[in-house]
Amino acid sequence: MKFDLVTLFPGMFSGPFSESIIKKAVEKGLVDIALHNIRDFAFDKHRVTDDYPYGGGAGMVMKVEPLTACLESVKAARPLSKVVLTTPGGRPLSQSLVTELALEDGLIIICGRYEGVDERVREIFVDMEISIGDFVLTGGEPAAVVLVDAVSRHIPGVLGSCESALDDSFCNGLLEYPQYTRPPEFRGLAVPSVLLSGNHLEIKRWRRRESLRRTFLVRPELLDTADLTEEDKQFIRTLRNGGGIQD
Ligand code: ADE
Repeated sequence: MKFDLVTLFPGMFSGPFSESIIKKAVEKGLVDIALHNIRDFAFDKHRVTDDYPYGGGAGMVMKVEPLTACLESVKAARPLSKVVLTTPGGRPLSQSLVTELALEDGLIIICGRYEGVDERVREIFVDMEISIGDFVLTGGEPAAVVLVDAVSRHIPGVLGSCESALDDSFCNGLLEYPQYTRPPEFRGLAVPSVLLSGNHLEIKRWRRRESLRRTFLVRPELLDTADLTEEDKQFIRTLRNGGGIQD
């Protein structure tokens, strides 16, 4: 998977991509991350990349010419990649969108800054606008990090176990069940005995119920679209009636 990050602040990416799983994915050649500094494509004397908005108002707008020159150069090398603009006004990022994006040949991610980009950049280049949540960042760079991270985990070979990405929260439409590792007791808090029982059927059932319980408590709207069995529905009814606290 090829990621091309189009940014005014390439230095913001040196930390996030030089640690842990993404670093290994790059080293293994599974993920290719290239940084493109928009300022390198501003050819006027002062290398200006922003300007005042027509019509007045607060803030600055990213100029069309440097972004166009940068995007045309990147697109020439990556004709198959989709162009994504990170903006709080975009489509909300979700696990299903992440898995969709992971099927692409590559992503060219424009990190929006200031009050946004000149609308003509959108019209000419942008295939999709993506928001990572209903809040406003100082720029699209952290959103690009989130996007690269979330998509990379779905590239075969990036995670240690091929099951890991599929077992995540959201992959089955529910939040993940609680996990424990040794010791069996810590500061008076014991690991649920079923997990030590070796009874795989009971463990599976307990995990499913804990997933349902967490989803019910934290993200109940997910239950409307999750794939639920009759037993799940019965358990949710118990939760709604104030039961299901202890098994
Ligand atoms: N740029 C600023 N805020 C953002 C957000 N919430 N998502 C994506 N890009 C952004």
